[in-house]
Amino acid sequence: MSGAGRPGQGFGSSASEMPPLVRPPQPQQPAPPSRDEYDVTQPIPFERPIAEADTQPSAVVPLGPTGRPMPVFPDPAPLTVRGRARVVSMCNQKGGVGKTTTTINLGASLAEFGRKVLLVDFDPQGSLSVGLGLNPHEMDATIYNLLMDRETTLDEVVVPSGIAGMDLLPSNIDLSAAEVQLVHEVAREQTLQRVLAPALEHYDVILIDCQPSLGLLTVNALTASDGVIVPLECEYFALRGVALLKTTIDKVRERLNPKLEIDGVLGTMFDGRTLHSREVMERLVSAWGDTVFHTVIRRTVKFSDATVAGEPITSYASSSTGADAYRQLAREVLTRWPAE
Ligand SMILES: Nc1ncnc2c1ncn2[C@@H]1O[C@H](COP(=O)(O)OP(=O)(O)OP(=O)(O)O)[C@@H](O)[C@H]1O
Ligand SMILES: [Mg+2]
Repeated sequence: MSGAGRPGQGFGSSASEMPPLVRPPQPQQPAPPSRDEYDVTQPIPFERPIAEADTQPSAVVPLGPTGRPMPVFPDPAPLTVRGRARVVSMCNQKGGVGKTTTTINLGASLAEFGRKVLLVDFDPQGSLSVGLGLNPHEMDATIYNLLMDRETTLDEVVVPSGIAGMDLLPSNIDLSAAEVQLVHEVAREQTLQRVLAPALEHYDVILIDCQPSLGLLTVNALTASDGVIVPLECEYFALRGVALLKTTIDKVRERLNPKLEIDGVLGTMFDGRTLHSREVMERLVSAWGDTVFHTVIRRTVKFSDATVAGEPITSYASSSTGADAYRQLAREVLTRWPAE
């Protein structure tokens, strides 16, 4: 029967005589956004309490530190066939953002997963070489010799890194002269590419640690690379200059190296307890979308300690969160790279 309604519902002829329905105040509990309607421009509930998540536990997708649902990255399968190495530059003209730390620890993690890795120190500061325990004043030959002297071969310069499966092309302050001398060379932007060519068949991954500038050395690194990883400190000023870096990468792709891809932007020195870090991450994701790695590297003094010890954090503090973060980055990176 229509219009009858149930008592207290306000339907039917007795509605006007009913007192207005007064509800007790309800605690505000907005439903969490579903994966599809997620809007990165809205504030992100980074630490979503489990009780608030969903009524059906199977529907809960935990959000990662970037504010997006966190995928599970599987351990990579062992390599059965060795192909051509993938060459990747760590690049950001801003100093102190974690380029060298990422080169050492991503390299060591990839080596743990059975990849044969060559690290290229392409910064006259030589931090990568020092970070692996080398003395910059006691190097017989460096990448400078390889670049400037055609008689020098790769074998004469490559040294073991102390980590199984990972070698190093060291550098020191001599490399700063190369930047000036290369200006007069023919095909000056392709010099590193030529030098690394014989290494491609011996390694699975070659990681180039760039200096904090967008000068000729960095253009050489980008020209020699298949991909770029951009480490970016989770700090507001770190976002400035990213547009210029993107323009440089685009120019190198257009003019020198059409295969160059941005493999990902990596948030480093993240501190999930501060709103600032989370806001920077939110801006990063809204600007760069899925280019931003799900993995972020948290701020911890263990990285500086490992540098002093001259080894990767994966061996210096193997079970630390920093070591695990770089192992996770290695897994994530391997899902992004084309099948080996
Ligand atoms: N996640 C982290 N937490 C805390 N400290 C870090 C972290 N990553 C790197 N560091 C420290 O920050 C300093 C700068 O890091 P790193 O040398 O990797 O940066 P960079 O980008 O290579 O610098 P540059 O531009 O000078 O080459 C180092 O002392 C390093 O130990
Ligand atoms: Mg560095």
